[in-house]
Amino acid sequence: MTKAGIPLGIFDSGVGGLSVLKAIRSQIPSRPVLYFADQGHVPYGSRPVEEVREFSEEIARFLLGLGARVIVVACNTASAAALQYLRQVFPETPFVGMEPAVKPAAESTQTGVVGVLATPATFQGALYASVVERFASGVTLLQDTCPGLVGQIERGEPDSPATRAILEKALRPMLERGIDTVVLGCTHYPFVIPLIQEIAGPDVRVIDPAPAVARQTARLLASLGMQVADSGRGALEFFTSGLADDFSKLLPLFLGENGPVRAVRWLEGKLAL
Ligand code: DGL
Repeated sequence: MTKAGIPLGIFDSGVGGLSVLKAIRSQIPSRPVLYFADQGHVPYGSRPVEEVREFSEEIARFLLGLGARVIVVACNTASAAALQYLRQVFPETPFVGMEPAVKPAAESTQTGVVGVLATPATFQGALYASVVERFASGVTLLQDTCPGLVGQIERGEPDSPATRAILEKALRPMLERGIDTVVLGCTHYPFVIPLIQEIAGPDVRVIDPAPAVARQTARLLASLGMQVADSGRGALEFFTSGLADDFSKLLPLFLGENGPVRAVRWLEGKLAL
């Protein structure tokens, strides 16, 4: 296979990683992508670390088996639970992961109060603790897990009254305490930026890490000699452990592009097409 044809593997518990894929498509559109949505197990955020690690390992193996050479863990929860582990299990494979963008938030906040929205597993993980320790001294971080928000987005409801109610509940107390910045620590949440901005007002900065992760991915591909002259749009292929039709219907809404979607089954901890 030519370097131009080597696909990038991307995975998430569901549609959240499409926010990262969208940024990757705008920066390196010609790279073919294999995207895996583990909708049979979504949400990851309330699951034990070991379980998310097992899912992530098998998904990585599946994507590598289909020809991916570089994998983007487009999920904060899976990155917190499994990124280090994946690098150990697959030492030949470069992985790009997510971490809550506390650093840019701490650097730019004027009020010194920052809201962070992420899943329970992300907040409990060592990765978040280390980011806070390294970058957030002197800054007050207000955290919320937005229960139910991932489910609303998975149902294709980024702007329904129920979604708004979840966000109001999370953001109102933060706004009362003076936040001027919101960090999106879950890849599903960029899809509710318009609603967040409506609730919080235009003066609150919302940090979506997807463009930075896309830049990092492009740099990594270049450093591996996998950069190619831009020539059209690379093929997109999607896999879900949920229902292929349902996932397909969400693509125009969250990605604005389509591609073939295949259902994959989990059988005793292994993925089978
Ligand atoms: N998109 C995910 C994240 O970035 C996972 C959300 C979930 O499945 O709970 O954390």
